[in-house]
Amino acid sequence: MMDWTDRHCRYLHRLLSSNALLYTEMVTAPALVRGGALHLLEFSPEEHPVALQLGGSDPEELAQAAMLGAEAGYDEINLNCGCPSDRVQSGTFGAVLMKDPARVADCVAAMRAAVRVEVTVKCRIGVDEQTPEEVLPDFLDRIRAAGCQRVTIHARKAWLQGLSPKENRDIPPLDYELVHRMKGAFPDMHISINGGIASLAEARAQLEAGLDGVMIGRAAYHQPTDILAEADPLIFGTGAAADPVDVVRKMLPYIDRHLAAGGRLHQITRHMLGLFAGRPGARGWRRALSEGAVRDHAGPEVVLEALARVAPDAVAAPAN
Ligand SMILES: Cc1cc2nc3c(=O)[nH]c(=O)nc-3n(C[C@H](O)[C@H](O)[C@H](O)COP(=O)(O)O)c2cc1C
Repeated sequence: MMDWTDRHCRYLHRLLSSNALLYTEMVTAPALVRGGALHLLEFSPEEHPVALQLGGSDPEELAQAAMLGAEAGYDEINLNCGCPSDRVQSGTFGAVLMKDPARVADCVAAMRAAVRVEVTVKCRIGVDEQTPEEVLPDFLDRIRAAGCQRVTIHARKAWLQGLSPKENRDIPPLDYELVHRMKGAFPDMHISINGGIASLAEARAQLEAGLDGVMIGRAAYHQPTDILAEADPLIFGTGAAADPVDVVRKMLPYIDRHLAAGGRLHQITRHMLGLFAGRPGARGWRRALSEGAVRDHAGPEVVLEALARVAPDAVAAPAN
């Protein structure tokens, strides 16, 4: 999620769930190919499985960007056909591509020809005056023919004029039923649903109703423990949920390395604010972390002080 998530966030999220597939925020193909911004591809090996999401609309450029992503070690390359922001429209990528499925198919085919890892698409159900019931099957048909077997559908339209990106994530109504009908029409495709899913109970219900996957954005960011840690036992059936206190401890060496390389504490801890959401002491944790982490020379002691607010026993001085 642009401006929210980054590699530090994914490192944290991977400590919470061993199984969830994590995505980068959208990285534009022009930035990689023309701008040479290869630092945007950096990630830690611990983050696997991790997908690189690309924005773009030029098949050749996307193919080159996909190649760079594959060389960097990403497990999947995803094409963004869902982002409605102005910046993105002017570059003719994101949700506006829902109007040009032939171009999307060309992009997918070019990316597929360039890399061995899977090429996937994230899309909306339609944009503007389009009739989703009509355009979505055609869109899926074309990307499947071009070699995309897996798609994530944000189950609402995007309005390219008149709504801000934030409004476009809330105002157009969700149509989960349409996504389910697409699974019926394209049973061989792996179809994940996205949009407004705020609990694992809802995610489970979507899976039980026949979908292949659920993508969770905002809720996973704001309540990472409830969503990601609980996903391992409840969705993937692998072991117990990670304990957020342990996760904080496991972040400390990562934080040390980041600070030693010249980074700032808050660049990492901003993603950790929600770790104790809904638990006693959560407010003290958030406050101590957000206020302490921006101070000059703030280090891991800020994290331990914040942890003492929410889990005093976890940071009690060891008896001699
Ligand atoms: C701050 C922010 C940035 C986002 N950036 C991206 C992005 O880079 N790529 C993308 O596919 N979706 C992006 N999204 C949309 C989310 O992936 C998701 O489709 C949307 O928030 C609906 O899902 P949710 O209700 O689970 O959050 C972003 C959402 C937010 C809130």
